[in-house]
Amino acid sequence: MSKSFDIGIESLAGGATAVREGRHGHLGSFAAPAEEELQKSDSSAFESDSRSASIAIPTDTKKSFYIETFGCQMNAHDSEKVSGVLLGRGYHAVENPMQADLVLYNTCSIREKAAQKVFARLGDWKTVANGKIIGVLGCVAQQEGEEIFERAPWVSLVCGSASYRKLPELLAQLEAGGRRVTGLDLDTDETFETEITRRDNPIRAYITIIEGCDYSCSYCVVPHTRGPERSRSSEAVLAEARRLADAGYTEIQLLGQTVNSYRDPSARKWKFVDLLRGVAAVKRIRRVRFTTSHPNDFHREIVEAIDETPELCDHVHLPVQSGSNAILRAMRRTYTREEYLAKIEWIRAASRPISITSDIIVGFPGETDADFEESLTLLDAAQYDAIFSFTYSPRPNTSAKDMPDAIPEAEKSRRLAVMNERQRQIQIARNEKLVGETFEVLVDARHAARGQWGGRTSCNRLINFTTTRENLLGEYVSVQVTRGGPNSLVGEQVL
Ligand code: 5AD
Ligand code: SF4
Repeated sequence: MSKSFDIGIESLAGGATAVREGRHGHLGSFAAPAEEELQKSDSSAFESDSRSASIAIPTDTKKSFYIETFGCQMNAHDSEKVSGVLLGRGYHAVENPMQADLVLYNTCSIREKAAQKVFARLGDWKTVANGKIIGVLGCVAQQEGEEIFERAPWVSLVCGSASYRKLPELLAQLEAGGRRVTGLDLDTDETFETEITRRDNPIRAYITIIEGCDYSCSYCVVPHTRGPERSRSSEAVLAEARRLADAGYTEIQLLGQTVNSYRDPSARKWKFVDLLRGVAAVKRIRRVRFTTSHPNDFHREIVEAIDETPELCDHVHLPVQSGSNAILRAMRRTYTREEYLAKIEWIRAASRPISITSDIIVGFPGETDADFEESLTLLDAAQYDAIFSFTYSPRPNTSAKDMPDAIPEAEKSRRLAVMNERQRQIQIARNEKLVGETFEVLVDARHAARGQWGGRTSCNRLINFTTTRENLLGEYVSVQVTRGGPNSLVGEQVL
């Protein structure tokens, strides 16, 4: 693809997609775990706001589309790219699915509840689809494949994320009257490159640097739904970062299921840290985030890069999944509790305070009370700034699905509540210690009714603050913390 560009914040006005971010934004939600039914441990200091940018779309065309996104930040960004492909083909976006010629659902299947939601949405169209093209994208598309046509015969397009390169071709078939088209291949070494990306967030821009996953965690459907690991060339990533800076963005988040497994496929063979430093060096970029890191590929040099580079944000999302070595082994996580905690030590030893967040699953098959207790003591040892906690959900095509000693749902829920309360106490203590400190905040929200503004620190903490100034959206300001709650901070702008 010769040239690509982004519809940047200057040129946009008027949102048109629905992003089901639940309480994350993972990820924008703050981190990758942005699934809609996400059971976040009361840690909204780390939630992203789900405000969408306003986007002005040319309306001189007849074909219209509506896209609704479920799941993680990778999905949200894929939808931005799919929207770009559609805009490039002359479609325009509408806010109401009833007004759209093409209705797309970009789906998540990480837990069963998320997957079920999509079929509920599809059911809504049973009697009213007349003439519309209904399409299913993403992980449920990949997982269920042509079964979707059986369950919802009014669906015309089923395409998994590993086949998005083929979307223009599939759309052309539909436009030519095709009734049922699919893109379900997984054996790909291609990444999804687009000429246009429609950016839904005016403050933070996302760049996918690696797609798919080569790990095989026994509970996880992702390697099956998103295919093998494919990294983009460092030059393509840097070119995108420069375009974003030119469009006015100052904060970039690099995305990947295992973002730190990045390996540059081009001749210069950059490692993940080289790319981090390279993106941080792009002119006018002030903040670079990355998510999600796999502990196995988390090396000390990443901490050194953060330490040496002010533009690299003071935050690492490093999912542990369990504190018990027996469960980690059964999950095939490839590290022990001790190895994981040693990496936490590196991060805590950095010269700048770096916040650490995690994902944890409770109720994995065979998890004893003692195993669960180990996850609780790991919370104490790691002192996370937030966690995303989940009850285990058996998924198709995973090796844990048929493991013996399933934990009853009621017990899983009990453990989740115990875990969240333990973490809540940790967050209260950590946030209270920040009272009196001053942070640089990138302002991304206005809470008019409360007379407050909202934004994020480099650590990704949410802070709501008062000020006598106006028009702060997108600005960097200094805020002194006056109060610390379990989920967010309160402060006043330092003028
Ligand atoms: N059940 C519960 N949680 C899961 N996750 C992934 N698969 C499952 C599953 N089958 C969680 C992990 C992962 C996050 C995105 O979702 O914690 O890091
Ligand atoms: Fe799933 Fe494990 Fe890959 Fe993460 S590393 S996407 S949990 S298989």
